[in-house]
Amino acid sequence: MHFIDNHQITIVPDSATDSDLARTIADQYDLEYSPNRQPSTPYRLVVSASTITLQLASTPLRIVVDYTQGHAAHRRQFGGGLSQTLAKAIGLKKGHRPNVLDGTAGYGYDAFVLASLGCQVTLVERHSVLIIMLRHALKQALSHAITQNIAQRMTVEHADTFTLLTLKTAPVADVIYLDPMYPSRKKSAQVKKEMQLLHQLLANEGPNAGLLAIARKRAKKRVVVKRPISAEYLDDLIPHSQVKSKNTRYDIYLPTSA
Ligand SMILES: C[S@@+](CC[C@H](N)C(=O)[O-])C[C@H]1O[C@@H](n2cnc3c(N)ncnc32)[C@H](O)[C@@H]1O
Repeated sequence: MHFIDNHQITIVPDSATDSDLARTIADQYDLEYSPNRQPSTPYRLVVSASTITLQLASTPLRIVVDYTQGHAAHRRQFGGGLSQTLAKAIGLKKGHRPNVLDGTAGYGYDAFVLASLGCQVTLVERHSVLIIMLRHALKQALSHAITQNIAQRMTVEHADTFTLLTLKTAPVADVIYLDPMYPSRKKSAQVKKEMQLLHQLLANEGPNAGLLAIARKRAKKRVVVKRPISAEYLDDLIPHSQVKSKNTRYDIYLPTSA
């Protein structure tokens, strides 16, 4: 099932020595390959052994998923630990670390926060390009002393979460976390450049009808939905409780019986 037009993206090597690696990745995920660093598609994923960079032609946007430095490292060190809103919404408490299925993994930054706080997290993502970036970031994090233990708590799965949860018959995790793309998010300074690019890349994202309902059947303790602060509820469903910060709201739903 293709939700994204993968013909918008070309896998290109960073230099001639990266050609085999770039071609292997393109073949593995059924994506276009070109040895030319300026392909005609709007998006390109530039591959080298050390870095994978998502670029949107005609803009300066360059995205690298990296848990070892930058804002992931900053959030790990200074994000507020158990008192940050994400941790509260998921239900982390002293001595209590629910396991989490992140059903809309994206760049995996929220999942990384939860894993850094001690949760086992399964990251499910349906877009091949993000899976390539996630797997690379995880491999890199596993080889860094500071992020190694955290990355060991993260597992990446390439799947559509609705399909995955429909195929299961028993609960898959204590908590299912959902952060689906929100179409009318404003292009303000608050929307970081990574998210802007994700928005453009996934502009034709398929619908997520029924995702919340099936998640409530497959979560043991709760489903948490991340939304912009003033967004409507997902599927117009009023949550049982909420945790809010200035720009973000976490809507918490209790499980329903399978
Ligand atoms: C807003 S992003 C999530 C960002 C993420 N929380 C982070 O910290 O980087 C939403 C992601 O969910 C993925 N997605 C949406 N619906 C999905 C589904 N049904 N199954 C798997 N992935 C899905 C999209 O491809 C996109 O990458």
